[in-house]
Amino acid sequence: MNKQFLLISLCLISLSLAFSIRKGEQQDKPVLPNQYRMDWDIYTLEQDAPYDPATNFYLQKGKGATYYDFATESMIEYYYDFCIPIFQNPSSYHQFPCRFLNTKRTAYLLIDKPMLTRPPCCIFATEFHPAHPNFIVEHNLQLKGTYQQNGEEVDYYWLDIPPPGPFYYGFHKYTTPTGHRVPAGFAFPTEAPENFTQQVFYNFQEGPFDMSVFDIPDSCINATECVVFNDEEESKANSNSSKKPAHHGHGH
Ligand SMILES: *[C@@H]1O[C@H](CO)[C@@H](O)[C@H](O)[C@H]1NC(C)=O
Ligand SMILES: *[C@@H]1O[C@H](CO)[C@@H](O)[C@H](O)[C@H]1NC(C)=O
Ligand SMILES: *[C@@H]1O[C@H](CO)[C@@H](O)[C@H](O)[C@H]1NC(C)=O
Repeated sequence: MNKQFLLISLCLISLSLAFSIRKGEQQDKPVLPNQYRMDWDIYTLEQDAPYDPATNFYLQKGKGATYYDFATESMIEYYYDFCIPIFQNPSSYHQFPCRFLNTKRTAYLLIDKPMLTRPPCCIFATEFHPAHPNFIVEHNLQLKGTYQQNGEEVDYYWLDIPPPGPFYYGFHKYTTPTGHRVPAGFAFPTEAPENFTQQVFYNFQEGPFDMSVFDIPDSCINATECVVFNDEEESKANSNSSKKPAHHGHGH
């Protein structure tokens, strides 16, 4: 065997190895089912995500649930205890249960509790649909590392974009009966002092479920764009409303 041939064959071996590793990684990247529901705990954190709930080191803890259907490009997230801390300081701004409904290419923020400064329904985004089940592959998200979550090792991928990112997507090592990696969590930056928010998923179930969860409520009929960052006004109105809970708008 001459030297040149040896070099060429080594080169070919490493090329094919690199190729098979890349192909292997590609195949291992998680793809979600087309229809699923899950429950979750939500933690707000001062420190960087991802977070291990077993450490009990969080600012707030709440509960929620998510329903997803790819065929209708619909998703709803129920925040049962408090909404996402995206409404600027102070953190009390998100102390109301909420739902994010994304259907028919529109994302609505729904608030069931009457509030002085927030309507029951507003439009959070238009021309917007939930991420596709293969978004990890589609957007070529990279495996960032692993973390411990309640005694289990979780792989996480990240979407390394400037604010509102980066976004972290955690997956268990194990799969559903149909071979989908079971999602473990989702984390993203929020407003200080709640610098990160992390959802820790459980009860993951592939569909079907009652599709009426995606019905657009009547309160959305004349909905206008959400005001997310009206911190000054909201601060005043909500601090007054907690002192005078009977006050609900102006009498004409
Ligand atoms: C949280 O964010 C604030 C504002 O950006 C920053 O001053 C603070 O150091 C952060 N806390 C941690 C623990 O990273
Ligand atoms: C929506 O707006 C229309 C026109 O202003 C009005 O007639 C209708 O009552 C409104 N519907 C709701 C549910 O507010
Ligand atoms: C809130 O209370 C302050 C002083 O108590 C008052 O000046 C302000 O107008 C009130 N704001 C609202 C929205 O009621």
